[in-house]
Amino acid sequence: MQTRLPRRTICLLGGTGFIGRHVAGRLVALGHDVTVLTRARDRHKDMLVLPTARLLQGDPYSATELVSAMRRADSVVNLIGIANERGRDGRGFHRAHVECTEKALAACRDAGIRRFIQMSALRADPAGSSHYLRSKGVAEEHVRESDLDWTILQPSIVFGREDDFINRFVRLLRRLPVLPLAKANTRLAPVFVGDVAAAVVRSLEEPGASHQTFQLCGPQVYSLREIVRLIGRLAGKERPVLRLSPTLGKIQARLMEFFPGKPFSSDNFLTLSTHNICDSGAPGLTDLGIVPTHLEPEVSRYLRIGTVD
Ligand SMILES: NC(=O)c1ccc[n+]([C@@H]2O[C@H](COP(=O)([O-])OP(=O)(O)OC[C@H]3O[C@@H](n4cnc5c(N)ncnc54)[C@H](OP(=O)(O)O)[C@@H]3O)[C@@H](O)[C@H]2O)c1
Repeated sequence: MQTRLPRRTICLLGGTGFIGRHVAGRLVALGHDVTVLTRARDRHKDMLVLPTARLLQGDPYSATELVSAMRRADSVVNLIGIANERGRDGRGFHRAHVECTEKALAACRDAGIRRFIQMSALRADPAGSSHYLRSKGVAEEHVRESDLDWTILQPSIVFGREDDFINRFVRLLRRLPVLPLAKANTRLAPVFVGDVAAAVVRSLEEPGASHQTFQLCGPQVYSLREIVRLIGRLAGKERPVLRLSPTLGKIQARLMEFFPGKPFSSDNFLTLSTHNICDSGAPGLTDLGIVPTHLEPEVSRYLRIGTVD
């Protein structure tokens, strides 16, 4: 891809994660300088192979450390986010989504940076069905109320070789003879991580992307059950999928909160009460000049080369 931007310096918050690494790689490949602020530099030293990337140890809740990370930057991309919190009362989500965003916006003002991209989530809403969606929605309100040149990106569930979504189901399908599934009818439009990263770059390139919210969806809508069956077929592990009733689904979600790493939770269950698909006519990938990637060929390619344990 040819960049339309002159060489720039972009500060990534949450740039060490699944999506952030794709964004960093793409920006570096286009010749930009990237500063990634991380709470755990030692764990992400592999990112130093990116020739124009700087990896800074720092606390994204500290105003001074944020401003210092932004010192050389002209744009900031906030990708900080969590899928689950330690507790259950929403404070963890509020801290990671709302507080981090407020701090990042304030630091941009202090550092004299105007361009700000917020990685939010589809169906983010201050009145949403879960702590996750509500905290993402409140964070968006802060971004929109700021006097910065903002763009908000709202992806549906994101897939890619290192994702937490397809890979988790592959592991479960390999271990279980039957897959009990909560919220099996919820509809999703999985979007490829490369397209999400491209949307960040295009938002930085296109002046018209300012003050806009883009919904990022893949080209096809599936129910959760259809996705799990498709993954089973692609991974050579077709298993019966047992659709759980709402009551059993809630119990499953509650029990899984006690598993290491909280693979599913009551809050995830509530998030899945809302279909995760784009509104027809809403600005999206194609408005950013990106042709959405189909899930099936992409997933079968990376499952074939055996990157999933
Ligand atoms: N993956 C999806 O399917 C999906 C779908 C919709 C929206 N999103 C949103 O897209 C963004 C990126 O997602 P991702 O999948 O790349 O997430 P990820 O892999 O979990 O990475 C998130 C990053 O945020 C930082 N972080 C995590 N917890 C934090 C906390 N409590 N306080 C401060 N920083 C924290 C981490 O950086 P360090 O540990 O290096 O500091 C990490 O690299 C998030 O905002 C997420 O909500 C993702």
